[in-house]
Amino acid sequence: MFIKALVCLLLLLHRRSSLASSSSGRYDGDDFIFNGFGGANLTLDGVASITSTGLLMVTDKSMETKGHAFHPSPLRIRDLSNGTVVSFSTTFAFGFISDYTDFSGNGMAFVISHTKDFSKALGGQFLGLFNQSSNAYNSSNYVLAIELDTILSPQFQDIDDNHVGIDINNLISNKSHTAGYYDDHTGSFERLSLGSGQAM
Ligand SMILES: *[C@@H]1O[C@H](CO)[C@@H](O)[C@H](O)[C@H]1NC(C)=O
Ligand SMILES: *[C@@H]1O[C@H](CO)[C@@H](O)[C@H](O)[C@H]1NC(C)=O
Ligand SMILES: *[C@@H]1O[C@H](CO)[C@@H](O)[C@H](O)[C@H]1NC(C)=O
Ligand SMILES: *[C@@H]1O[C@H](CO)[C@@H](O)[C@H](O)[C@H]1NC(C)=O
Ligand SMILES: *[C@@H]1O[C@H](CO)[C@@H](O)[C@H](O)[C@H]1NC(C)=O
Repeated sequence: MFIKALVCLLLLLHRRSSLASSSSGRYDGDDFIFNGFGGANLTLDGVASITSTGLLMVTDKSMETKGHAFHPSPLRIRDLSNGTVVSFSTTFAFGFISDYTDFSGNGMAFVISHTKDFSKALGGQFLGLFNQSSNAYNSSNYVLAIELDTILSPQFQDIDDNHVGIDINNLISNKSHTAGYYDDHTGSFERLSLGSGQAM
C-alpha cells in the first residue's frame, strides 16, 4: 500500500467581512488572512513545515505521517454576553501532491478544536485527529473537522474515495458529499478530484 498520510491543518479563518492582506499574515480582531505562510506565527507540529516559497506543507511523502498547523492563540466562537455561537467562513487553497496518478495520501482537514495537542492521534485514515479509542464518539472530544478525504475507509462509513465530510467528534461524518462545486452559471454539479495534484 502506498499510503502517504497528508494531515490536518487549521489556517485562515475570518469572521465578519473585512479582509486585508499582507505578505506575512494580519490579524485584526477576529479576521485574518495569510498570503503565504512565510512570516506567519503558526503553531506547527509533526512533519508540518513552511516551504521556502511560503507554502504550508502539512505532511511529507513518508507513510502514515501527520502534521498540524494551528493559529497560535484561541479564537472566541461563542459570544460571552449571550452565548450565541458566531458564524464564520474560511477560504484556503490546497493541493495533494502524490507520486502516483491514481492514489494519494489519506487526506487533510480544517479543524476547530479546544486543544492543539494531537500527539496521541494517528496519521493515515485517522487524519492526525483521532486514534482507535478516541474515535469512538465522545462529546468531550470537542473536535469539529471538515475533512477532504481521498480514501474510502469502510470503518468510518465513507461514501467514496473523493469526498468532503463534516465530522463532529469523530471520523464518521455527520454529512458528506462527493468533492466538487456547483457551477454559478449552469447550476450543475462539477466533480473535483482532490488527489489530482492540482491547486484547488
Ligand atoms: C506567536 O504565538 C505565540 C503563541 O500565541 C506567542 O506567544 C508569540 O508571542 C507570538 N509571536 C509573535 C511574533 O507574534
Ligand atoms: C449576542 O450578542 C452579539 C454581540 O453582542 C449580537 O451581535 C448578537 O445579535 C446577540 N445574539 C442574540 C441572539 O441576542
Ligand atoms: C487516544 O487519544 C486519546 C485522546 O487524545 C488519548 O487520551 C488516548 O490515550 C489515546 N489512546 C492511545 C491508545 O494512544
Ligand atoms: C470521554 O472523554 C472524557 C474526557 O477525555 C473521558 O473522561 C470519558 O471517559 C470519555 N467517555 C467515554 C465513554 O469514553
Ligand atoms: C453527529 O454525529 C454524532 C455521532 O453519530 C451524533 O451524536 C451527533 O448528534 C451528530 N450531530 C449532528 C449535528 O448531526
